[in-house]
Amino acid sequence: MIPHSLGSDRRIGAAGAERSQYGRRAGSAFRMPGLGFDMRPPRTWVLKLARRRLAIATVDRSDNISLGKALGGCLPMKALPIAAMWIGLAFCAALGLAASVLITLGVGERGIHAALAAVARLAFLLFWLAYSASALASLFGPRFQPLKRRARDFGLAFSSALLVHLGLVAWLCLIGAAPGVGTFVFFGIAVAWVYLLALFSIDGLRQALRPKSWWLLRVVGMNYVAYAFAVDFLKNPLHGGVRHVVEYLPFAVLAVAGPVLRLAALAQRFARRWREASYRAG
Ligand code: HEM
Repeated sequence: MIPHSLGSDRRIGAAGAERSQYGRRAGSAFRMPGLGFDMRPPRTWVLKLARRRLAIATVDRSDNISLGKALGGCLPMKALPIAAMWIGLAFCAALGLAASVLITLGVGERGIHAALAAVARLAFLLFWLAYSASALASLFGPRFQPLKRRARDFGLAFSSALLVHLGLVAWLCLIGAAPGVGTFVFFGIAVAWVYLLALFSIDGLRQALRPKSWWLLRVVGMNYVAYAFAVDFLKNPLHGGVRHVVEYLPFAVLAVAGPVLRLAALAQRFARRWREASYRAG
């Protein structure tokens, strides 16, 4: 059963709602007494967008469409719950994974190290999707567009799972088994990049940057984090028996595949531009 399914008569209801609240048609001017200018009631643009979205959705899929879906994406507020859902799910998954490793292996140094390794792998998968989605869509077409559209959510989910990793590091420090200074410096820089990128993925803040600066920030930050993962996963992935290979090899392959895909997509873009330029010149 699809709740709130909208038939054509419900559409009339939605349009009719525009007349409510201000007692006039949505979109018409609204004069504030005492103020020398016309204001549009703040709800009118939301209703207009909702109506347009509803019309498109109705044409696309005729009937049987939920109100929530029809409005999804047109209200700015809608973007937050989806990102928040990814952030929450990733955090809970990382926490659950860490807890199950700690329950199995104990809460001593060995258990914490194993939990760190497990959470790092989960976080890496989310990071990899954020890092490679755009390249996959460029190289292999529309099939990967849904992944590309979710790239920011994957990135935020990764930053959320990383919090559990950092919590485990803090725990390690508390039991007197703190990692070396070199680890703090090298991975600390990666952590700073992750949360800087997460911060600037907020629309208002990103718009304060010039597009070139945002592009540079993303390229440097994402590649530094990719490098940090690669340093760990490419440590002899084929040594140390079957277990070691299983724990490292798939992640080592992805750690190499990500940059290769991005370089291939970049090369494809340059080749296309070069072809277009030479077509125009010729
Ligand atoms: C974005 C930042 C980070 C990334 C990409 C990252 C990545 C990783 C990876 C891939 C592993 C698994 C290593 C393995 O299985 O051999 C790992 C484990 C670990 N990480 Fe992180 N990490 C980050 C932040 C940090 C920070 C800030 C610290 C502490 C200063 C830290 C300390 C550790 C420790 C102690 C382990 C366990 C290593 C072992 O048992 O071999 N990590 N991390």
